Amino acid sequence: ATAQNKIVVNTDLGKETISKDIYGHFSEHLGHCIYGGYWVGEDSNIPNTNGIRNDVVEALKEIGIPNLRWPGGCFADEYHWMDGIGPRDERPTMINTHWGGVTEDNSFGTHEFLELCSQLDCEPVICGNLGSGTPQEMSQWVEYLNSGNVSPMTDLRKANGREEPWGVKYWGVGNESWGCGGNMTAQFYADNMRRFSTFTKNYGENRLYKVACGPNVDDYNWMETLMKNGNPGGSFQGISLHYYTVCHTWRQKGSATQFDEKEYFTTMDKTLFMDELLRNHITIMDKYDPRNRVGLIVDEWGNWHDVEPGTNPGFLYQQNTLRDAMVASVNLDLFNKYCRRVKMANIAQTVNVLQAMILTQDGEMVKTPSYYVFKMYKVHHDATLLPSDVTCDNYTYEEESVPALSTTASKAADGKIHITISNLDPHNSKEVLCEMRGTEKLSFVTGSIVTGDKINSYNDFGKKEEVSLKEFKDVKVNGNSLTVKMPAKSVVMVELN
Ligand code: AHR
Repeated sequence: ATAQNKIVVNTDLGKETISKDIYGHFSEHLGHCIYGGYWVGEDSNIPNTNGIRNDVVEALKEIGIPNLRWPGGCFADEYHWMDGIGPRDERPTMINTHWGGVTEDNSFGTHEFLELCSQLDCEPVICGNLGSGTPQEMSQWVEYLNSGNVSPMTDLRKANGREEPWGVKYWGVGNESWGCGGNMTAQFYADNMRRFSTFTKNYGENRLYKVACGPNVDDYNWMETLMKNGNPGGSFQGISLHYYTVCHTWRQKGSATQFDEKEYFTTMDKTLFMDELLRNHITIMDKYDPRNRVGLIVDEWGNWHDVEPGTNPGFLYQQNTLRDAMVASVNLDLFNKYCRRVKMANIAQTVNVLQAMILTQDGEMVKTPSYYVFKMYKVHHDATLLPSDVTCDNYTYEEESVPALSTTASKAADGKIHITISNLDPHNSKEVLCEMRGTEKLSFVTGSIVTGDKINSYNDFGKKEEVSLKEFKDVKVNGNSLTVKMPAKSVVMVELN
């Protein structure tokens, strides 16, 4: 037992809400994310509803998927939405130049995506094409989606079988415009974003929440330029940030499953850089937007490993281990911590691509360790963040160290308190004392844990799950404090009343 591992939770000082949109997802026309992942078509033997896999929808509903970003990614700035509407067998094809050079037949388009969101009961987040499209094309897409008036676009929508407007709220104005979205300078993008945004209109009651393309990692100049010259709050309501955790280099990122402790440590260290990034970007946002009108939208994040051996390098198919689960919890804790500004985040990319929740192989499906962290963290959706202070051991590898613990505490609408704790140390369990200031007496309701035998334990087709969500009871409550016995390399949730 040590006072070295102590979390002080201020149960009476909560004022910010952890938006459930922080637990959002991203799905691109890339590899087998859309095709094979969600979309199998109506004639498939795989059980589906209107062409969309039932097993995948059911699994994502279980983790309370709040929103889904689509169609890219880099794909978004080459996508022409009109190619993806109308009778499927008449839709033109295109080459997916970014992802494997495969032929995209456009069988999954606007109507299919919105059907998917309706089955998932989640908010659509659509990223428009600023890079190779025109303001007119973007404007017409929004009109097609959201207008209830009589117009050429609404007539077209009705002819394609949809009478009522969908009322899409979240709208990306280009993706990675500093890179695959057009290689623009910050000022050039700021001007273009203002122009495109002018022509994406509000229809009826629906108010668009426009997300400007924000910085690549630590490009603080990009953030500064957009916040200064991009008309924040007018031309855009949210600004994105992309940061992927790459263990080694972009050329050679490292295996998803065959890694040693040094690589595990490096991954934790690099993922924790998100803290500094959020802090610094938020400082710039606070300077230009002291009233906190603009949200920071981390709409691409997660581990990016080398593809599985033998798979198409352009398909970004990677396995997912306990290491990925730890990366998920650490990042989610950081988004929660900065929830005053972080209003949405989207892990890349839900099914079969990068740090996925789900892997599919024909009619089979695997839930990844990351999936179980998202399932556990449902307790924080739309809950009040309880400010907490952590004092903890370091997890040291050779000469370097990171804090061993990461945490989030929140209070739900029904008054229940949830605390999630991750112990990054792969060797040592930790006895963690949680002092719940502002309460007198608490009782333990339930607990759960995600862990595995090894740092690279993972779930695979045709074998028993190695990592899942299990019951956890190693908690002792004494008045307003509790002791949680955290196993090494684990994520734990404790519910208190
Ligand atoms: O998620 C894969 C790619 O990563 C996206 O298409 C792009 O936006 C980012 O570079």
